[in-house]
Amino acid sequence: MIKQAIIPLAGLGTRLLPLTSVFAKELLPINGRPAVEYILDECIEAGIKEIILIISDKKKMIKDYFFQDSFYKKILKKKKDPRIKREYQKILRYKKMIKFVYQNKPLGTGDAVMKTKKYIKSNYFLMLLPDDLIIQDNCSKSMIDIHRKYKSSVMASMRVNKKTVSRWGIFSLSKKISNNNYFINDVIEKPKINDAPSNKAVIGRYILPKKIFSEIKKLKPGKGGEIHITDAIQNLINKKNLFIAHNFKGKYLDCGTMHGYINSTLEISKL
Ligand code: G1P
Repeated sequence: MIKQAIIPLAGLGTRLLPLTSVFAKELLPINGRPAVEYILDECIEAGIKEIILIISDKKKMIKDYFFQDSFYKKILKKKKDPRIKREYQKILRYKKMIKFVYQNKPLGTGDAVMKTKKYIKSNYFLMLLPDDLIIQDNCSKSMIDIHRKYKSSVMASMRVNKKTVSRWGIFSLSKKISNNNYFINDVIEKPKINDAPSNKAVIGRYILPKKIFSEIKKLKPGKGGEIHITDAIQNLINKKNLFIAHNFKGKYLDCGTMHGYINSTLEISKL
C-alpha cells in the first residue's frame, strides 16, 4: 500500500517573480486557498497518511504556515468565529501528517527526492510536483489503483504540443496495458524537438520504488547541471523495472507560470 507522499517545495519560483521575491509560491492563493493545500487534499483523498515536504531555509514560511497555534488560539479566545475555527482545525489536520526535510541548494528533483531517503518506509511512495495541479479527478488515487493492480511504478502523462517538448520529461511507449495505461520504453528530460521520441510528457505525479534512491546516488548532473529524477527512472527502466504512463482523466493546470497561475484561479472558481 502507498501511504507516504513527498512534495518538493524548495524551488525558487523565478517564473512567478515578482510574486515570489518574498513569498513562497506554494502559499500564493489559488481561488482563495494556498496552492499547497490542493495537493495536500489530493494526497489525503488518495489515502496517503504521511506527507514529507521538502523545503529550504529560504522557504521556512511554509513550515510557519502550519505552526501558528498560539496565534490561532489567541484569536479564537477573543473571537468565536466559526470560520476561523474551521480553518485552524484544517491546518491542525494537515500538521498531524506532515514532516519537513531541507534541500538548501536547488540541485534538481532527483536531489530533492534523495533528502527524503531515511523517512521512506515501504517499497513504493508517491511524489507530487506542486506546479502541476490536476482538477476534476484525483490523479494520485487513480495511479495508486494502477500500482496496486500491476505492482509497478507509475507516472502521470499528457500529450503536449510538439513545439513545447523541451519543457518536459518526454517518453516513448512500448505496450498498451489498458485504456489510458501504457508501459514506458524510454524517458528523456527536456529534449530538443528533433530528439524527442514523442509528444507525451511526464506530469508531476510519480509512484516511485524505494530503489530509486540508489539510482539517484549514482547520477551525474544532467540537463542544466541538475540531478533529474527522469534520469534515475531511465536507468531503472534499463534494468527492466516496469514504469507505467497513466493518461489522467482530470484537467491539468500549470501553476508554475504567471499565465497558468492566473488561469488556475479562474478554472477552480468554476468548479
Ligand atoms: C519537472 C520534471 C519534468 C516534468 C515536469 C512536469 O520539470 O523534471 O520531467 O515533465 O516537472 O511539470 P520542471 O517543471 O521542474 O522543470
